[in-house]
Amino acid sequence: MDKIVSLCRRRGFVFPSSEIYGGLGSAYDYGHYGVLAKNNIKALWLQAMVQERDDIVALDSAIILNPRVWEASGHVTGFTDPLVDCRTCKLRFRADRLEDASCGRRPSKRPGETADCDLTEARQFNLMFKTQVGAVEDSSSVAYLRPETAQGIFVNFKNVLQLARRKPPFGIAQIGKSFRNEITPGNFLFRTREFEQMEMEYFVPPAEAEQWYRYWIDQRFAWYTKYGLREDHLRIRPHEADELAHYARAASDIEYLFPIGWSELEGIADRGDFDLTQHTNASGTKLEFVGEGGERYTPYVVEPAGGPDRTLLAMLIDAYDEEVVAERDRTVLRLHPAVAPVKAAVLPLIPRNADMVEKARGLYDELRKRHFVEYDDGGQIGRRYRRQDEIGTPFAFTIDDQTLEDDTVTVRDRDSLAQERLPIGGVRDWLGEALERPWRTPKA
Ligand code: GAP
Repeated sequence: MDKIVSLCRRRGFVFPSSEIYGGLGSAYDYGHYGVLAKNNIKALWLQAMVQERDDIVALDSAIILNPRVWEASGHVTGFTDPLVDCRTCKLRFRADRLEDASCGRRPSKRPGETADCDLTEARQFNLMFKTQVGAVEDSSSVAYLRPETAQGIFVNFKNVLQLARRKPPFGIAQIGKSFRNEITPGNFLFRTREFEQMEMEYFVPPAEAEQWYRYWIDQRFAWYTKYGLREDHLRIRPHEADELAHYARAASDIEYLFPIGWSELEGIADRGDFDLTQHTNASGTKLEFVGEGGERYTPYVVEPAGGPDRTLLAMLIDAYDEEVVAERDRTVLRLHPAVAPVKAAVLPLIPRNADMVEKARGLYDELRKRHFVEYDDGGQIGRRYRRQDEIGTPFAFTIDDQTLEDDTVTVRDRDSLAQERLPIGGVRDWLGEALERPWRTPKA
């Protein structure tokens, strides 16, 4: 994990937030390459969940909803973690994760491990961030930053049913920020207090819930392998009955083998009719499906819920590689080309050669109309290749002496290091096709 954090910082993917003020625990800002890679992940999710399907529509709901939403959903009373304080070291821990926590003393001990530890009784701590809406600060103005995007979907069920003229099975997909006042954030992007979610609520006839639950576990697992995660670093873990969330009838996690061990990458839950029933009862608006023949029922919901921050972290970890090439160390991010922030680099071999520069800039201007590409004329060619390897750029086009003679360029493949020559006029189409090709990680 340290190597990933360091590379992200060094190459401007992700850095600690408000760093000049000493940062804010476990809050991060995304720099240029981080933004591009995370946007790619979100676009690929939307492509799979909405663009390539007839049965799912998109939504972008507000972050601050009517607070009654969170009462009805059970979050005001139930979205809590058990917490203990240590009166000696003044730190706070999750009561159910004491074995994973370390306390303030050096060498570090587990909370409760020594006679000096003085832990309080566990008490429930609500994870929602509270705020005030409007100028008057009283109980009527209390509101919450959403802790999941899902509720914005449930409260729009009727709108979508009517306006998008859907009938179950159909889904509503949303990407957006969520906020949780996590007691123990950490492990870089894995658990932060402000993060994005990619959630889809799939409304189905109750008798079909089990079948769709299995279907979405398979679909989502396949999505992660399609975009490069190694299959033997992924697994599906069904939840035990005592760990199910308050709304869930069944749930499974797609777990990735992070450096911290197997941990949730995405959760797939069968939420039954819990949410639509709760909002029907609390709002007085019937959230049900009425068929043309008059049949009426409250659909069950199957929910694949992931997040682009955690997905990016898994993809960076999976892609990170170090090797020695021609007696030199090389750090390379073997990202899926669709996820890579920059698709190709254009490099004039001799930056002082005006003809090479002109050709290179011409190619760069042509390619950048379609893709994020980079022009780099700083330093030796080997160094420039290394810089691109470190950010995961799959292809590099080099303009050299031969280009000036026959209008061909060298293309270098990030993974195999193979080089071939292409006519400069064909580079745009070649790159388009290369980026469409199925890709598998060369990592064992
Ligand atoms: N609506 C269901 C739900 O919110 P969840 O398992 O709590 O389920 C879904 O969250 C996904 O959101 C997780 O699999 C993870 O990818 C992301 N996520 C949740 N909490 C997070 C946090 N504190 N930091 C980063 N990502 C988080």
